[in-house]
Amino acid sequence: MVKSFSKLSKEEKLQRVMQERLPEACTQMEDILRRFWYKDAQLQELLDSFSENTLSNYPLPFGVAPNFLVNGREYIVPMVIEESSVVAAASSAAKFWKERGGISVTIEDTLKIGQLHFEWWGLPNRLEQVLPQIQEELMKGVRDLTNNMVKRGGGVLGMELIKFQEEPNYYQLRVQFETCDSMGANFINSVLEEFGRCLVTFVENWPEFSVEERRIRILMAILSNYTPQCIGKAEVSCPIETLGCINGYEAEDFAYRFCKAVRIAEIDPYRAATHNKGIYNGIDAVVLATGNDFRAVEACGHVHASSEGRYKSLSSCHLEGGKFNFALEIPLALGTVGGLTTLHPLAQLSMRLLGNPGAKELMEIVLAVGLAQNFAAVRSLVTTGIQKGHMKMHLLNILKQVGATEHEIEGATCFFEDKAITYPAVRKYLEEIRKLP
Ligand code: MEV
Repeated sequence: MVKSFSKLSKEEKLQRVMQERLPEACTQMEDILRRFWYKDAQLQELLDSFSENTLSNYPLPFGVAPNFLVNGREYIVPMVIEESSVVAAASSAAKFWKERGGISVTIEDTLKIGQLHFEWWGLPNRLEQVLPQIQEELMKGVRDLTNNMVKRGGGVLGMELIKFQEEPNYYQLRVQFETCDSMGANFINSVLEEFGRCLVTFVENWPEFSVEERRIRILMAILSNYTPQCIGKAEVSCPIETLGCINGYEAEDFAYRFCKAVRIAEIDPYRAATHNKGIYNGIDAVVLATGNDFRAVEACGHVHASSEGRYKSLSSCHLEGGKFNFALEIPLALGTVGGLTTLHPLAQLSMRLLGNPGAKELMEIVLAVGLAQNFAAVRSLVTTGIQKGHMKMHLLNILKQVGATEHEIEGATCFFEDKAITYPAVRKYLEEIRKLP
C-alpha cells in the first residue's frame, strides 16, 4: 500500500515511482519525464492543477482543418488528435463540401438532464400527489445557487418523478436544466445535491405522511451525460453528377457505393462501431481542442446510436431525385465558458480561432467536423481503401525520421506509389539513390 503519496512533492513522486518501478533505468526515465515539463513555471503549475499526482505532461499534436463552411460561416477548425490522416481527411472533406455549398447544421436545444436517485417506502401515488409541493420547496432551497444562472437566461426548467417498475422503492427525480453557454456540470451537480437535502427535510416533515412515509434514503445526485434534447443534425447535399469523378469512380457509382457503406453501418453493429469511431475521430479532436469533455460527448452519442434497441450508424445517406444526401444526427452537450475552456491557454486560443462561438455554434462546428470526417473515411473505404492515405503518411513519417531531403521525399513518394511501404524498404531505397552520382 502506497501511503500519503499525494502529499509528496512532484519531484519526490517522480523519483519514488521511477526508483520503485523502473530502478534499472530510473535516471533516464526521470530525464524523459522532466524533458516534457514546461519552463514557464506558472504554466506548468496551471497544467498540474487540472489533475492529480502529475509527473509530467503528455503533449498531443494541435492541428487545424481549414475550409469549413458551416451555415454560411467560414472556420479554420482546431483539432487535437494523435492519429495521422484524421486532420488531412477532415480538411479535404471540408474543402469538397465548401465547393458544393458547405455544411448545414441545426441544433434543437441545449437542455441538460440531472438525476436525483432515492429510495422511498410508500405508495408511489402518495409521492406523486405532493410533487407540486416538493417542487416548490426544492426550488426555494436552491435559489441562492441558481440566481446567477437565472440572470443569464438559464436555471432549473422543470422536473418529473420517475418510478422504475423493475426496482421496488427506487425513485428518480429527473430534472431539466438550461446552463446557457456553460457545460454546467458543477452547477447541475450542486443543485442536485441541494435538492437531495431539501427533499429529505420535506419528506421527514410533511404533515400528511405516515411514519413509514417519512422514511427516505438519497442514493446519489448527478447529471446525466445523455442529453437527447441537445440533438443536432449536420447535412450536405448536391446533385449526384456534381460529386464528380472520385478516386477513379464515376459520380453515380461512387454515390451508390457510399450509400451502401452507410447502410451496412445501419444494419451491422460490428461495422457501426468502426463507422461511428471514424465520426468521433473528428468530433473528439475538436472537443479536446476546445477544452470540452470528450468522454461525455462520446457516451451520449453511443446511447443515441442504440436508442432504437440496436447499435447503429449515427449517419445516414440517401439518393433521391438525382441528389446525394448525407446527414449526421447526434446529441451533444458542450460548453464555451467555464471549466477547462476558460482555463487552458490552448483551449482559449481554439475558441478565439473559431471566433469565440457560443455553445450552440460550437455544437454546429463539431457536428460539421463529425460529418466531414465520416464522409472522408467512407469515401476512402469505398474507393481507394483506407491504407493508401495512411501509408502515404507512414512513408512521410519514415522519410522524416531518416532525415530525407525535400527532393528525396518527392522521389520516394513516386517510387512507393505502387509498392509496399516498410521501414527497411524505405532505407534501402534511400541508400540506393544516395549512391547514385
Ligand atoms: C480509423 O481511425 C477510422 C475508420 O476506421 C473509420 C471507418 O472505418 O469508417 C477509417
